[in-house]
Amino acid sequence: MKFAILTDTHFVPPGRKIYGLDPAERLAAAVEKINATHPDIAFVIVTGDLAHWGEDAAYGQLATVLGRLNAPSILMMGNHDRRELFGRHFPGVERDAAGFVQCVRVFEAATIVTLDTLNEAAPNHEGLLCEARLAFLEQALRSAPADRPLLLFQHHPPFDTGLRYMDTIRLANPEAEWEVIARTRKPDYLFMGHLHRPIAGAWRGIPFHIQRALAHQVAFDLDAEGYIPGSHEPPDYSHVTVSDDRIVIHQCSFLYDGPTFSLQDQAALNRA
Ligand SMILES: [Fe+2]
Repeated sequence: MKFAILTDTHFVPPGRKIYGLDPAERLAAAVEKINATHPDIAFVIVTGDLAHWGEDAAYGQLATVLGRLNAPSILMMGNHDRRELFGRHFPGVERDAAGFVQCVRVFEAATIVTLDTLNEAAPNHEGLLCEARLAFLEQALRSAPADRPLLLFQHHPPFDTGLRYMDTIRLANPEAEWEVIARTRKPDYLFMGHLHRPIAGAWRGIPFHIQRALAHQVAFDLDAEGYIPGSHEPPDYSHVTVSDDRIVIHQCSFLYDGPTFSLQDQAALNRA
C-alpha cells in the first residue's frame, strides 16, 4: 500500500496570506504533483491544522483545492481547527460516536487509526485525549487485525522534542495515552504533525515520523525560548510504502524547480 502525508496546511480565507505565504497556492502545487506522480496511492492523509484561524471561508477554500485531488483524503483535526465549521464544508468526514474526528480504516496492507487531539477549550493550543477519545483508542487497538501493521496518526506528539515552546503545547496527557497502548497493543508506527519540522525517532519503542508543514515552518532552533522560531524552509509531502517487511517514507520537496539529472552523466558530473 502506498499513501501520501501532508500536514499543517493552515488555510486562510481566499486572498489572504499567512506569514507571507499562500497556503492554497502551495496545496494546489502539492495536489498537482501527487496526482501526476502517484496515481496508485490509496489516500492522502492530512494530519491537522487544516485552517489557521478556523474560519468558514478558509475551510471552503480548502474543500475547493482538495476537491482536485484524485485520491481519497483522510482529514484530521489540529489545535488551530474548529470542528463545527470544518464539518460544514466536510460533512462526509468520518467521526466517532462522540463527534470527534477520528476513525479506523482497515486496508489489506495496514490498519490506519486517526486520533482527534484538538482541545478547543485550551488557551495555549496544547492537545488532549479525553476519556471518550482514550476509550476510542483502546477499542481501536484491541479490535485491529493482528496480522497487519497498525499505523497511528495524531496531530500532537505525546513527548518532548527539544523545541522548547512546542514542548509546552504537546499532548497534555501522554501518560494516559501510553497506559492505553501499554495494556493493548503498540502501534507499528506513529505519524504526527504540529511541529512544522521533519523529525524522526522512536517513542518508547514505537518508531515515529513528524511531517514538515505545508505552510510556514518552525526553524531548527533548540535554544529559542518563550516564542516559536519561524522560517520559510520549503515544504514537503511524504510518500509512504507499506509492504510485507518494511515501511519506507520518502519526503518530496514539491516546490523544488531546479535541475534534475543523471548522476552517471559525465557532462553533468564535470559541469563547471
Ligand atoms: Fe500547525
